[in-house]
Amino acid sequence: MRLSERIRYVGVNDNQTELFERQWPLPYGVSYNSYLVVDEKVALIDTAAAQFADEFFANIKSEIGDRPIDYLIVNHMEPDHSALQAAVRREYPACQIVTNAKAVPMIEGYQGIIDNIKVIKEGESLSLGEVSLQFFMVPMVHWPETMVTWSTEENTLFSGDAFGSFKAAPADVIDSKSSTFADYQDEMTRYYASIVGKYGSPVQAALKKLNGLEIKRICSTHGPVWEQSISQVVALYDRLSRYDADRGVCLAYGSMYGNTERAALELAEAIKAKGIPCAVHNLTEEDYSFALRDVFKYDTVILGSPTYNNGIFPPVRQLMQGICDRMVKGRRFLAFGSFTWAAASVKLLNEMAAAAGFEILSEGITFRQGYSKSKFDAEAIASLL
Ligand SMILES: Cc1cc2nc3c(=O)[nH]c(=O)nc-3n(C[C@H](O)[C@H](O)[C@H](O)COP(=O)(O)O)c2cc1C
Ligand SMILES: [Fe+2]
Ligand SMILES: [Fe+2]
Repeated sequence: MRLSERIRYVGVNDNQTELFERQWPLPYGVSYNSYLVVDEKVALIDTAAAQFADEFFANIKSEIGDRPIDYLIVNHMEPDHSALQAAVRREYPACQIVTNAKAVPMIEGYQGIIDNIKVIKEGESLSLGEVSLQFFMVPMVHWPETMVTWSTEENTLFSGDAFGSFKAAPADVIDSKSSTFADYQDEMTRYYASIVGKYGSPVQAALKKLNGLEIKRICSTHGPVWEQSISQVVALYDRLSRYDADRGVCLAYGSMYGNTERAALELAEAIKAKGIPCAVHNLTEEDYSFALRDVFKYDTVILGSPTYNNGIFPPVRQLMQGICDRMVKGRRFLAFGSFTWAAASVKLLNEMAAAAGFEILSEGITFRQGYSKSKFDAEAIASLL
C-alpha cells in the first residue's frame, strides 16, 4: 500500500490472535506494521509476527517485485516486530541490518544473526538516494534498545511502539474520516496502559527529543498510520505519560457472592447522579486491562474487594498491583468491600494506595456479610468525591 511515492505499508492485520503477549485481549485485533522506503536503495523498517510470514513477503513483493531489499532497519526487538528478521535475510541475503549497539546482541540472541550489521549512533543518517533516514534512541519505549527512524524529506516518523494502538489498522491504513483518532482512542489508551504504562518518564524524554521535528506522518508499529490526527495522538501520549487524567472515576470491583457487587453498582449510580463520569468494571468478567485503561483516563480510582484468605480478592489485587507496577501517580483513592469474620482487603488496598502516593479519600468502607443500604451509604460516599 502506497503512503507516498516512496513510503509503502507492508504490515499485516491480525484478527486471529486472542491475547497479545499471551495476556491482553484483542477484541478488535491488532496490526503489526512494517514499511518499505523505496528509493535508489530500498529499506525495510521492522518486520512482523512470525505466523504472518507469507502475507508479509507477499506484501513486500507486490510493492517492489523482484528488487532486493538493501537495508533492514531494526527499531525494536520485541518478537512481534523482529520475528521475521532471519527470514528476511534468507529471502534477501545481501540485506544489511541497520540498528544501534544495544540491539545487536538481541538480534543474535533471538535470530542468530551476527554478520552484515551496520551499527549507527544517535542522530546518525543513512542516505537511500533522495530520501535519508535518521535514527534517535528512545530507550524504554518500550525496551532498552528501542529507537525511532525519522525521514526529513518525507516528514515521517517511524515511531516503533510509540503512538501504537490495539485494534487492527483500517483497510486503507491511514486515519481518515471513516477511521478517526476517536475510533482508536480507547484501544490506544489500553495499549499504552497495558504495555508502555510503566515508562512514563522515558516517554516524556522521547517526546522532548522529537519535539523539534515537523512531523506530517507517524508510522507506528501498531494501529493506523497517523496523518490527520498527529496533534491529538501526540497530546494523548503526552498526557498519559505525565499520568494526567480527566475528572472522573474508574470503579472496579470483584465479588464472589454479589455483596461487594451490589455496593459497587449502588455507588456507581450515586456517582453518576452527581454528574461525575464513572466507568464500572467487573474484574471477574473482564480482563483488568480495560480497568487499567480507565485508571489512566480518570483521576479517581475506587476499588471494591471482599476479604479473601485474610487478603484482597485476587482479581482486584491483580489490578491494584498493575497500577502500582506502572507507578501511576496523582490519583484519588477509595476502597470498599464485604467480609465475614475479619476485614482485611480495604486496609491492604489502602496501604498499597498510600505507598503509591495516592490521596486516600476516606479510610474506606468495610461491611460485614450481606449488603444493605444501612451498611453502605452510597450517597454519603459519593459526596466525598
Ligand atoms: C475462599 C474464601 C476466603 C475467605 N476469606 C475470608 C477472610 O479471610 N476473612 C473474612 O472476613 N472473610 C473471608 N471470606 C468471606 C468473604 O469475605 C465474604 O463471603 C464476603 O461477603 C464475600 O463478598 P462478596 O459477596 O462480594 O463476594 C472468604 C470467603 C471465601 C470464599
Ligand atoms: Fe514492544
Ligand atoms: Fe509492538
